[in-house]
Amino acid sequence: MDRRSFTQLLTLGAGSLGLWKTSAQAAADDTGAAPDPERNQQGAQPEAVNVADIEAIAEAKLPKATFDYIATGSADQVTLHENLAAFKRLYVYPPLMKGVSDADLSTTALGQMITLPVLLAPVAAQRMYHAQGGLAAARAAAAAGTIYGVSSSVGNSVEEIGLSSNGPKWFQLYVPKDRAVSRRLVERVERAGYEAIIVTVDLGEWKDADRRNRFALPKEMLVKHLRDVGFDQITDRMSYEDVVDFNVNAWDLSLSWPFFDWLRGITKLPLLIKGVMRPEDARKAVSIGLDGIVVSNHGGRRLDGMPATIDVLPGVVEAVAGGAEVYMDGGIRRGTDVLKALALGARAVLIGRPYAWALAADGEAGVVRVIDLLREELRNAMIATGCAKISDIERSLIS
Ligand code: FNR
Repeated sequence: MDRRSFTQLLTLGAGSLGLWKTSAQAAADDTGAAPDPERNQQGAQPEAVNVADIEAIAEAKLPKATFDYIATGSADQVTLHENLAAFKRLYVYPPLMKGVSDADLSTTALGQMITLPVLLAPVAAQRMYHAQGGLAAARAAAAAGTIYGVSSSVGNSVEEIGLSSNGPKWFQLYVPKDRAVSRRLVERVERAGYEAIIVTVDLGEWKDADRRNRFALPKEMLVKHLRDVGFDQITDRMSYEDVVDFNVNAWDLSLSWPFFDWLRGITKLPLLIKGVMRPEDARKAVSIGLDGIVVSNHGGRRLDGMPATIDVLPGVVEAVAGGAEVYMDGGIRRGTDVLKALALGARAVLIGRPYAWALAADGEAGVVRVIDLLREELRNAMIATGCAKISDIERSLIS
């Protein structure tokens, strides 16, 4: 079935029953009750069985400009496509007869136990995808047993997200120029119980689709976002243009390494740097004592023409030489992608678009579903390669 007719089918089938079975419904279905004859009829509501299905559901539900905001990449989208293509170029060589019939996917990230090596990457504007936005994503991450990377621009305050679940959270910092605001924000992050800070340093998106669609946050969301960060001077009474102008000038886009000295001086939380693509930058990050490195090209949303993250990962891992934990994101769509990233040295991976689509498709249940899909795909890949536990995933699995 081509993608268009699949999307149409989903649109037609999307009724009040939700777009797919949740795991709880699936379990209830397995209780021996008589099979529902309608379920097997042609045209019955299809289940999302992979990330691409979830993307199709999101596309059918979201306004075009919002879908494009999530899905597209910068300029000619070379980097966006490369992130995906590079995974497809890597082949897995499964050793046989390892006596493995199940796998333990649990691991740790900065000492935090997680049930699988997949974290939720910081993603902005989540209330545009679902009314519950980041609150739903936080609950889903907690239910799935993983870490929620909370964007500075998620759409809810640090405290609202903090209270929405007991699960582990890392806060992603975009840095206000006004360091008094930055400091207060970091203090609030600590008080709200976040366990680490990710500083994203590859700043600024350049996406043709967003300019063509004139994609913009509605005024209410932009005002709330700025107030949530701590810009108390922003009020509802300001004109939209004034709020936009303020936003354009509010953020520090000229970060340099000494910023981390300042940040280290005001917080004891573990620090990660996100946006690393070069081994020498990774070495520098280790030399100044950062705890984690996220190899990332911002999902191909910033500078077009950068290579795939999976291709630069081995060089970064080598440069870091165990001095910090190395994570990667960009293009993870399958459990085998997670396996490949771990084989090449990543501690764990982060996903962006897959859970943004899932949030649009079915809120909290959708995000749980997409994590579970990746979990089962990774489990299958581990069993097929004789890996009973995460530390069994070795470089030799990859060509
Ligand atoms: C992002 N990303 C991002 N990164 C960040 O540090 N802060 C942010 O606010 C956002 N916002 C954002 C919005 C949307 C819609 C997307 C898709 C991505 C980048 C994100 O953290 C991650 O690096 C990429 O999404 C990873 O690539 P994949 O998984 O989307 O291929």
